[in-house]
Amino acid sequence: MDKKLDIISLNRKAWNNVAEKYDNAKYSKINPAFQFFCKQIPEGGSILDVGSGTGLPFAKLFLEKGFNYLGIDISSQMIKIAKKNVPLANFKELSMTDLDFNEEFDGVFSHFTMLLLNPDMFKDVARKILKSLKSNGFFYLSLNEPSVKTTDLDEDVICEIMGEKMYSRAYTEGEVQEIFIPLGLKKLQIYRETQNSKEFGIEYMIVFVFQKNG
Ligand SMILES: C[S@@+](CC[C@H](N)C(=O)[O-])C[C@H]1O[C@@H](n2cnc3c(N)ncnc32)[C@H](O)[C@@H]1O
Repeated sequence: MDKKLDIISLNRKAWNNVAEKYDNAKYSKINPAFQFFCKQIPEGGSILDVGSGTGLPFAKLFLEKGFNYLGIDISSQMIKIAKKNVPLANFKELSMTDLDFNEEFDGVFSHFTMLLLNPDMFKDVARKILKSLKSNGFFYLSLNEPSVKTTDLDEDVICEIMGEKMYSRAYTEGEVQEIFIPLGLKKLQIYRETQNSKEFGIEYMIVFVFQKNG
């Protein structure tokens, strides 16, 4: 059986089922790396939000900052909620594994979404994100790092979140850099924060802001 299709179907079903709970939890928060990323984008610049979720808080904030915004998400339920939450933003039902843009965006934004991919899919989506970015464009990526105790990163990759089984994997700083730097990105900033929530427990968030080489 095709592993890629498995993960995509599993995660689509899971996120459709948790969409309403995720919206009610108002889980996602802004952080200093988000503000830094926004400051790099030219006035009226274009943003692709990969896995836009409920649209809150990020789609709303990108619109308030005057950016030209497109959010894509694999979950039709998430898209439905996002359109209700942020009616003036553009949202499209699409998997990040099917991105097909050519140097169209000043910024690509991925907040807690690429961790839902296995390493092969991650590398493939990384190439597609690079292709979507204009030269000198910016890429924001937030993920979870493994806890210090984790020795085998591929252990427990099928986890239960809000009562739904889905694929999610921690990535190390080294793994992320080994994928993006050779593709032609330079690292501008790394930000770390430990988060603790009822829904997801303790998470070691790491955020990268990269710039595509000109
Ligand atoms: C943890 S939520 C983050 C949502 C949003 N970025 C935020 O920070 O609030 C993960 C989101 O990624 C979406 N997602 C999962 N797999 C995806 C894929 N292959 N392509 C696009 N979106 C995906 C889910 O439907 C969900 O909305």
